[in-house]
Amino acid sequence: MISITAEEVGLFARLIHDRTGIALDLGKAYLLENRLAPLLEEAGVTSFGEFFRLVSRSSAWVPRIIDAIATNETSFFRDQRPFSLLRDKLLPELLGRRRAESDASLPPALRVWSAACSTGQEAYSVGMIVAELLGAEAGAWQVRIVGTDISNAAVVRASEGVYSRFEVDRGVPDRLRDKYFTPLGERLRVEAGLRAMSVFLEANLLAPPDNLGQFDLIFCRNVGIYFNQENRRRLFANIARHLRPDGALFIGSTESLLGVCDLFVRRECLNAVYFQPRPGAAEPAPPQTSTAGIKG
Ligand SMILES: C[S@@+](CC[C@H](N)C(=O)[O-])C[C@H]1O[C@@H](n2cnc3c(N)ncnc32)[C@H](O)[C@@H]1O
Repeated sequence: MISITAEEVGLFARLIHDRTGIALDLGKAYLLENRLAPLLEEAGVTSFGEFFRLVSRSSAWVPRIIDAIATNETSFFRDQRPFSLLRDKLLPELLGRRRAESDASLPPALRVWSAACSTGQEAYSVGMIVAELLGAEAGAWQVRIVGTDISNAAVVRASEGVYSRFEVDRGVPDRLRDKYFTPLGERLRVEAGLRAMSVFLEANLLAPPDNLGQFDLIFCRNVGIYFNQENRRRLFANIARHLRPDGALFIGSTESLLGVCDLFVRRECLNAVYFQPRPGAAEPAPPQTSTAGIKG
């Protein structure tokens, strides 16, 4: 394994921080060594310094570095409690309100954002709950689940919706697995209806496209933990602009917004924590437009 010097850690840490907001210090030298080793081998270089010079000349390496460094750990129904709260309380209430607001000219709509969606399990987990709650009524709704992530490789996998049996069985109850997944060789593919309501895009949460529109539910879990305090503040300020006044935000089970921002009101229900916009605290983002690559 090629070793990295302190100076080289500084060079790569700055590059990664500037592009993603992910904060790496000297203590993460091993992570750079391990995760970038295959790229150094592919590039045919013998030091991190030489690799950095190559990257400076050819920016095509940058997305590869981001894919390698981003921690994509995720799972279906991760941390369970937010999903139980959604299923048992928040979504039935939200769907009821959206149904009541709709009329003959405007079908009821629900928009969900899985921000830092990784390989898509979070987005499809919400999709399964929505599909279960809407049942036969689903065809009359406009449901759009948008997943975004900075890692191109993760977004490609999320769009394919193909998972190993281990990945599925780790989080998905048998009944939902049998209903929402179809065998594809040794693996399982999310069924077409669920994939049709989901769209995955590459986006940096520190500079998200402004035209993503407003969402009823936002999951922004286990990404702020990789940022410094200033970028965490930027992250949640961006998120606040996209959450509808009666919507709900979920953050990771080990995360807190205390001292990060006061744009949200913290709520606890059924052993789960969620956040709602503090009225008037954030300037809403403009409506969603098709240029964001999303229909509906
Ligand atoms: C640990 S995963 C979390 C996945 C999922 N939200 C969950 O909690 O299971 C963190 C994800 O954040 C993404 N990420 C890191 N920095 C990002 C940024 N600036 N913008 C968007 N996504 C980012 C990574 O690519 C990775 O997929």
